[in-house]
Amino acid sequence: MFKGIKDVDRNYIQQSSVSFIKHAQAMFTQFPDTQESRTGSNTEALPSIWDDWYGFEDRINQFITANLNLQAALDDQVHDRKLRKAFFAVARGCKSCHDNYRND
Ligand code: HEC
Repeated sequence: MFKGIKDVDRNYIQQSSVSFIKHAQAMFTQFPDTQESRTGSNTEALPSIWDDWYGFEDRINQFITANLNLQAALDDQVHDRKLRKAFFAVARGCKSCHDNYRND
């Protein structure tokens, strides 16, 4: 959409963003610090999650904030650049957390 290949679908972005927030909120409790979490083979979660738990929580909170900003930008029908910026802030949130806390 933001490459101009498809029309920007505000409803679709809104629904995705609501779902991102729901999943982000679940992350606070979905990473228990157990031996299995830290050493299990069927996971991409890095030990840095537990070694730097507050940093991980910060990333979750920043990601939620970025999504709330995105939803606010969706309400603004006039300023498309604002929407674009807010969208890429969310996308950066995925990457910045993965860079630090996911082995991918
Ligand atoms: C606060 C940190 C964080 C944010 C933000 C985040 N992720 Fe992740 N993501 C993770 C971690 C940690 C894993 C590895 C989980 C595991 O293997 O147990 C993961 C795994 C994934 C996977 C692989 C799932 C699987 O079943 O193997 C996908 C796909 C993914 N993330 C997409 C995204 C997208 C898209 C976004 C943004 C819209 C996003 N993530 C935002 C931390 C995050």
